[in-house]
Amino acid sequence: MTAKRLRVLVTRRWPEAAEHYLTERYEVTLNAEDAPMSPARLAQAFDEYDVICPTVSDKIDADIIGAAPRLTRLLANFGVGFDHIDIAACKAANVAVTNTPGVLTDATADLAMALILTAARRTGEGERELRDGRWSGWRPTHLMGRSLSGKTLGLVGFGRIAQATAHRAHHGFGMNILYYSRSAAAPDVERGLGANRMATLEELLRRSDVVSLHVPGGAETSNMIGAKEIAAMKPGAILVNTARGGVIDHDALAAALKSGALSAAGLDVYPAEPVVPASLLGLENVVLLPHLGSATVETREAMGLRAAANVNAFASGSPLPDRIA
Ligand code: DGY
Repeated sequence: MTAKRLRVLVTRRWPEAAEHYLTERYEVTLNAEDAPMSPARLAQAFDEYDVICPTVSDKIDADIIGAAPRLTRLLANFGVGFDHIDIAACKAANVAVTNTPGVLTDATADLAMALILTAARRTGEGERELRDGRWSGWRPTHLMGRSLSGKTLGLVGFGRIAQATAHRAHHGFGMNILYYSRSAAAPDVERGLGANRMATLEELLRRSDVVSLHVPGGAETSNMIGAKEIAAMKPGAILVNTARGGVIDHDALAAALKSGALSAAGLDVYPAEPVVPASLLGLENVVLLPHLGSATVETREAMGLRAAANVNAFASGSPLPDRIA
């Protein structure tokens, strides 16, 4: 008798190679519409599938997970961040959770640098001007931005993505590095990235020309960069966020961008995606991207295959390689 194939729900479309890998091995349901599933549909899925592969666009809270035993035993998240999943409720309901660490480090660090460069060199403003037919030709004072070489980049959080950003900024663009984290990195890691020692958040905000956020989302970091922290930043500094939108108080940020207290910002993430805070939409000096941190073909394929590796381990009863709960 052949063993029952696992029933797996993939809540959004993945790159073809990763979907193919999973569909070859399991009884997979793909979300043909590729639209967010309703809370009711997600709750129902917990009774229909052994494994659910959600993404950041699926809010999986205690109501959806429920307290009673359900069929679903694994959430193999497509992504590294997991603040959209109620981990405590998963633990209580005996549902394992995995993520996809490591494979999106370089893509997200590249995007952090892209935001830093776009904000510092005002290339978004330039492109809008040109496409709108407003460009009147070269002139010495046209759209002057800021140079990065010799400036200080402050990284809030110093995990894999922050360190990859530090590497690019220090070795590629000649920036000095400050960082603030829960714990100090090893001295050889600090040295390799041009950081002498861990700073306090206050020192980092005061001394950095560019501040880039790399902390996990969730209650612990909610509004971590609020009016007080923004006021503590160097006049004319740039704030960049590729982490989670809830980390910044966006009304305070919009006020600082309007007054010129900050010269620019670059954002890839927002508190209630896909809604972008209205206070930012009319501002020229903010770069707004639609959560593209990991959006390369190679990276999204690797994320799918990494989620699939966790499903494989679950199917064979092996330890889950990327278990977070
Ligand atoms: C991640 O992997 O956390 C990205 O933000 C997409 O979810």
